Amino acid sequence: MTSTDIREDALAGLTFPPGFVFGAATAAYQIEGAVTEDGRGPSIWDTYSHTPGRTYQGHTGDVAVDHYHRYRDDVALMAGLGLSAYRFSVSWPRVLPEGGGRVEQRGLDFYRRLVDELLAVGVQPWLTLYHWDLPQALQDRGGWADRDTAERFAEYASVVVGALGDRVTHWSTLNEPMCSALLGHVSGAHAPGLQDSVAGARATHHLLLGHGLAAARLRAAGVSSLGVTLNFTPMNPASQDPADLDAARRLDGQQNRMFLEPVVNGAYPADVVADLEAAGAPLPVRDGDLETIAAPLDWLGVNYYFEQTVRAGTRPAGKPPTSFIGGGDVVELDPVGPTTTMGWGISPQAFTDLLLWIGGRAPGLPLVVTENGSAWDDEVDAEGAVHDPERVDFLVRHLAAMAAAMERGADVRGYFAWSLLDNYEWARGYAQRFGLVHVDYATQRRTAKDSGLAYAELLRRHRDEA
Ligand code: NOJ
Repeated sequence: MTSTDIREDALAGLTFPPGFVFGAATAAYQIEGAVTEDGRGPSIWDTYSHTPGRTYQGHTGDVAVDHYHRYRDDVALMAGLGLSAYRFSVSWPRVLPEGGGRVEQRGLDFYRRLVDELLAVGVQPWLTLYHWDLPQALQDRGGWADRDTAERFAEYASVVVGALGDRVTHWSTLNEPMCSALLGHVSGAHAPGLQDSVAGARATHHLLLGHGLAAARLRAAGVSSLGVTLNFTPMNPASQDPADLDAARRLDGQQNRMFLEPVVNGAYPADVVADLEAAGAPLPVRDGDLETIAAPLDWLGVNYYFEQTVRAGTRPAGKPPTSFIGGGDVVELDPVGPTTTMGWGISPQAFTDLLLWIGGRAPGLPLVVTENGSAWDDEVDAEGAVHDPERVDFLVRHLAAMAAAMERGADVRGYFAWSLLDNYEWARGYAQRFGLVHVDYATQRRTAKDSGLAYAELLRRHRDEA
């Protein structure tokens, strides 16, 4: 059987409604490089990645996949794959090097050129304002733990929509605020690398407030396709023991519901508020904030990678601190079965269940899968091909899982594969490859993997069916 036959087999029977959006996603710091060019200021990820011991083998995003210089070729690649949409993020410190105040026109010009290139080949731009690269100047003033950062984010949103609102239709405020808040401020696994629960709770609220304030600015500028991207990790208790059930409730509370509920229903879950208060890390909510955060949305972005089984108990010595406020009394179990090179389990069924669960929490709100994907050790072979059967399998099974949720009523409007290209996987550096397209980091050569070709085939059929 050739790899083409395998693709044909796997794709047979996967159909999606006309107009369903298929794209791929990236983020500025993970692909652009050019960190000191055209007036860009430093971000917290420049600082973090240059701090010894923070990232895998000291890898940084200084060069990444050089997209800042190669964006034309990369857009041509997208057109070649037949993507209908491309999700990317704007680098805040390229546009406002000090976080607020002075605007760097050259930064805005880059995104204008990128968007024009996308529009010219018929790929819809889906713009995310914040994918984790906070200007360092704002971190120096307290970062997301400080309420003023939410105001600065709204200022930044106004600047970007003022420059690109005439050509970008689809706007998203934040990517995965859970990771910014809890990985950045509680476990310390991401920039700014703090291990401070009080800062984590404050950052949570100020990120969400920033989302609401920015949403108001985007609406005022006429944006009619507005969303926010949240990540979800379904939490399963290891047993029916009340202590394990409570561990799962608490982790689900802080990693999922604490972000979803205020955005879609205008309230933090009462159990989460109580847990955080008991931990001495309250959410700094002021009158009117929750109304701001619950700004009406046109869609909710859902990022899904894996599910987690948890139990009560003390984390084993040497395990890194978890992204959880309130002590070491929750333990994440190792996944059962095959894992990706990230060490993540593979659970398409949990994806179906998650989409239905979110649909139930946010009735009437369309969902867009803004990220889903897997990392594997990919290599270009002697014939110049990249055979990644595990990623093809992951992709097909997750698309089928999404289709199953849609059949059962989940209102899903689009799917973006993570990622278009292999790229800088944050603290895991370049060792983790998520791309549909392989990048040789020594030469920056791009090679479509079998998964990229399979995706292109699916998209071709989808277009033909429309
Ligand atoms: C979610 C993040 O948004 C993205 O930046 C990251 O690379 C992927 N997950 C994979 O970890």
